[in-house]
Amino acid sequence: MNKLALITGGTRGIGAAIATRLQGDGYRIAVTYLGNDAAARAFQERTGITPYKWNGADYAACQEGARRVEADLGMPIDILVNNAGITRDASLHKMSLEQWRAVIDADLDACFNMCHAVIEGMRARNWGRIVNITSINGQKGQFGQTNYSAAKAGVIGFTKALALESARKGITVNAVAPGYTATDMVAAVDPKVMESIVAQIPVGRLAQPEEIAHAVAFLVHAQSGFITGSTLSINGGQFMI
Ligand code: CAA
Repeated sequence: MNKLALITGGTRGIGAAIATRLQGDGYRIAVTYLGNDAAARAFQERTGITPYKWNGADYAACQEGARRVEADLGMPIDILVNNAGITRDASLHKMSLEQWRAVIDADLDACFNMCHAVIEGMRARNWGRIVNITSINGQKGQFGQTNYSAAKAGVIGFTKALALESARKGITVNAVAPGYTATDMVAAVDPKVMESIVAQIPVGRLAQPEEIAHAVAFLVHAQSGFITGSTLSINGGQFMI
């Protein structure tokens, strides 16, 4: 498959599962990461994919990074998966402005920054696939996550608006809303809190990252051109809309 997919936050967790799945499906792959060099090195050794290091919350870095990826791999970014995200959980009455801003910047602004870096090229080529990773907690709200729930709900609105703007240009824009998935992010939640959360999941377990990657592979497929503006929930039945 002669298409290049860029996955942000692609060296760990759900992003790494998406990268390896799309690599297996025959796409050329580029991934970004920000902080964890050791994980990025391990990912590169495992997959042969070169990780690019830049901050998705930095507009200029996204522009420059996207151009660098395209120059290095000698092909345009036809598929963008906005996966990178962070949490800074705290009840609102205890949340600092820094915790609020960090999550809005990393989880919502980054979506704008990266889409802005690739949309003109996709429009010019009349083809593109954008998948934004949102969250069950952007759909239903979550105690301790006013920042994250706001950012992830924002991603869903962003997805719908960009889907409308892009529909005539052969570009689909969809969101995937994972529930609680076996990743470092979820492992950071207090085990007692996690116990009560898993008790609310009808399937009775966390998702595996590969189960989220499967949905992304479906949405970026050439035959998925009529699916746009949708949010695909993958949450073990925890929240149904
Ligand atoms: N619903 C209702 N009440 C709750 C509650 C909940 N979910 N969680 C805690 N409370 C109650 C506590 O029982 C406690 O009540 P008492 O004082 O009567 O005992 C009170 O709220 C504590 O309130 P605080 O503001 O003091 O909260 P805290 O500082 O102790 O803890 C928190 C806040 C760290 C955010 C903690 O609630 C927490 O870890 N919540 C889980 C957050 C979560 O699910 N994060 C998901 C991360 S993974 C992810 O985000 C990936 C994804 O997309 C799914």
